[in-house]
Amino acid sequence: MMDHHAKYPDLSDLKARARKRIPHFVWEYLDSATGQEATLKRNRTKLDEVLLRPSILHGEFTPELSTTFLGRDYKLPFGIAPVGMSGLIWPGAERLLAQEAARQGIPYSMSTVATQTPKDVAPYLGEDAWFQMYPPRDPDIRKDMMKRAKAAGFNTLIMTVDVPVASRRERQTRGGLTQPPRLTGRLAMQAALRPAWLNGIRKTGMPRMKLMDSYAEQTTSLSSTEHVGYLLRTSPGWDYVKYLRDEWDGPLIIKGVCNADDAARLQDEGVDALWVSNHAGRQFDGGPSTIEALPHVRAATTLPLIFDSGIEGGLDILRAIAHGADFVMLGRPWHYALGALGDAGPAHLADMLAKDMVSNMGQLGTKTLKELPARLL
Ligand SMILES: Cc1cc2nc3c(=O)[nH]c(=O)nc-3n(C[C@H](O)[C@H](O)[C@H](O)COP(=O)(O)O)c2cc1C
Repeated sequence: MMDHHAKYPDLSDLKARARKRIPHFVWEYLDSATGQEATLKRNRTKLDEVLLRPSILHGEFTPELSTTFLGRDYKLPFGIAPVGMSGLIWPGAERLLAQEAARQGIPYSMSTVATQTPKDVAPYLGEDAWFQMYPPRDPDIRKDMMKRAKAAGFNTLIMTVDVPVASRRERQTRGGLTQPPRLTGRLAMQAALRPAWLNGIRKTGMPRMKLMDSYAEQTTSLSSTEHVGYLLRTSPGWDYVKYLRDEWDGPLIIKGVCNADDAARLQDEGVDALWVSNHAGRQFDGGPSTIEALPHVRAATTLPLIFDSGIEGGLDILRAIAHGADFVMLGRPWHYALGALGDAGPAHLADMLAKDMVSNMGQLGTKTLKELPARLL
């Protein structure tokens, strides 16, 4: 395997190259947030403000990056967050990310609105395959979706709750992406400037939300464009958590929790873990950064916590764990890696994150992740 560290030592290097290899309208979908993108920026600046106390004269040691989460042992404390239309961002993304997750022994989460169905990715899944659900309106579709996910090998269910309504995502709108995506006019010209992406798309076909399409066909003759919004009831209530708790017999994680009160109530509802996320600033531009929300959620529950939104390196992972996270996820970075280096991208990113964690733990003098909270300044 080629060593990419000399040329792409940091996520910013992957991001810069990905931008040159992904068509502009797709880039705007991947890289943008909502409103003035203040929350997107705040996620970053507030992470930078988390300071940890380095130590000296602690002798030589090899830091241990392993952790336990929901009863499973992981060599690395991070994984892959669900990203809708992943296969549009980079052709074959769902398969490539599932394969890399299996190789690394880290969780891969697949979105309800991925470009592949659970069955399509089944051959590539490892033992930590998580299915992310946007709650379907129709109980039969809900049950069928869970059945299909389970049959394909997904063992953990994620319910995303921070999308009660569609957000405006002005930059994405300006970019011109349609649903389903069409390569016409200026979008076709943008695609023509990105041959690696376009060749890949020629092989996979134009990506669509295949799982949603399958239900749109069953329930009506109308296309998925008209029906994704209807089929997915975007504003579920607390009763929906109960349905999923009753109907799913594996771990249930609620994603998009930033409030202490919600965290306490969700624990009472019997869910297994909470995912502190603000969807990378894509939904609401007037809320706290996730690193600001994390300590409040931590104080309100004894449930295991996942953290995401704005993680850009190993040091950020350490910061989140120091603040009380048990596991950390990344969404966009895996796609920057795919855009930059294709098949080889995700392995390079995983290695980069692990190396950065090791280097910073060496500075901190922390041998295990458990020692991190005591290092918080
Ligand atoms: C292009 C894009 C699509 C996303 N689609 C979904 C989705 O379908 N379901 C979901 O729960 N979260 C979705 N997310 C949010 C991610 O799961 C995750 O919370 C976020 O990307 C983490 O922030 P990061 O990208 O800074 O790592 C999406 C994020 C991006 C950037």
